[in-house]
Amino acid sequence: MLNGVHQFQLEFPKEAGISWRGRCCLVTGGCGFGGAHLVRQLVERGAEVVVIDRSPPEGSSLDLLGLSRGVAYIRGDLSQPGLLRHVLFEFRIDYVFHLAAQPLVPLSIEQPRETMESNFHATLELLETLRDTRPQCGLVYASSAACYGATRERRPIPEDYAPQAFENPYAASKLAADALVRTYARCYGLRAVVCRFMNTYGPGDRNFSRLVPGAIRRLTEGRPYDFGDRDDGQTELDFLHVCDMTRAYLLAGLSLDTVSGHAINFGSGSPLSVDWVTRCVSRAFDGKERTPLFRGKRQRIPRRKSLDIGKARALLGWAPQIAPEMGLAGTVAWYCENWERVQAFAEASNETSPHEERRLEHSRLNGMAR
Ligand SMILES: NC(=O)c1ccc[n+]([C@@H]2O[C@H](COP(=O)([O-])OP(=O)(O)OC[C@H]3O[C@@H](n4cnc5c(N)ncnc54)[C@H](O)[C@@H]3O)[C@@H](O)[C@H]2O)c1
Repeated sequence: MLNGVHQFQLEFPKEAGISWRGRCCLVTGGCGFGGAHLVRQLVERGAEVVVIDRSPPEGSSLDLLGLSRGVAYIRGDLSQPGLLRHVLFEFRIDYVFHLAAQPLVPLSIEQPRETMESNFHATLELLETLRDTRPQCGLVYASSAACYGATRERRPIPEDYAPQAFENPYAASKLAADALVRTYARCYGLRAVVCRFMNTYGPGDRNFSRLVPGAIRRLTEGRPYDFGDRDDGQTELDFLHVCDMTRAYLLAGLSLDTVSGHAINFGSGSPLSVDWVTRCVSRAFDGKERTPLFRGKRQRIPRRKSLDIGKARALLGWAPQIAPEMGLAGTVAWYCENWERVQAFAEASNETSPHEERRLEHSRLNGMAR
């Protein structure tokens, strides 16, 4: 069976081939889905890695990917007074990859204050600490296509697109932090770049309210292939494999001399309908193509949100390398191989029950694009 993590031999153009040996990297939110994959890439390239996360490593994405040993792990909230100062100074950090955030739209609607605390205030705390303590440190910030708001734009969205109305606190919190990072680069000379993504998928994501892990969970648990009323199935979005995302972070980090102060989009280059994605997941699971049930109000013109990736190509030589069929097949294979561990942890931690998840899905007012 395919192993979802190891099957891809990614090519790193130009400077990204440089070893990370001798560099000390802090990954905030390193126990999470994106953070864990980034930690893997950094460790494999010889970097020393420090993770700060408020979640314990046990059962986290980091743990599920077999990485909880071999990195320095510090449990704490980024807003904790003195924590960042201590870590940046103590470990003599060269690069910060700032991924820690509350990344779920429905939860942000229920908990706007907590979402702003994690996504905006913690970013401000980090920027101020960098300015005071290690202004020469490189910073790569995980931003989001949510920054463009509830757009009706059908063309791929370029970075200088004027944001449209926001429909949830998650989007507002990400744009605020995104703007702040760029401001600190321009105003205080911090070496910082903003990377904007949407709908990343791959092995180890434990956020089951997201489309791909949610589809796999339905299949694995034999539940109806019913995706509720949050979409009509025709919405087209960029789906990017997590390995393409981590490659983007590394390239951006190594190119700070030219890209500091910039925001850069990273997307698939060709949007896919959520109906197509769920059918593909179903085929990868057991060869059968189930018809997914999307009960959202049918749109006259299908919604679409995708990112213009011309800047990433031009400045970093980045382009997505993992075809969706391959990426989704590898992801499904990983969950099938690791389902017992994924499930054991969910039970042990009394994680989001199916009931809670349905409630979250129901309150998901803003489609699936992030
Ligand atoms: N996954 C996607 O599709 C996607 C798309 C666009 C942008 N992003 C961005 O990428 C980043 C990572 O997302 P993810 O999918 O890995 O989410 P995740 O929920 O899997 O991981 C986030 C991690 O951050 C930690 N965290 C949150 N707030 C913290 C705080 N104040 N202090 C310390 N730790 C904290 C959490 O415990 C968690 O382990 C986020 O910034 C998100 O906005 C993700």
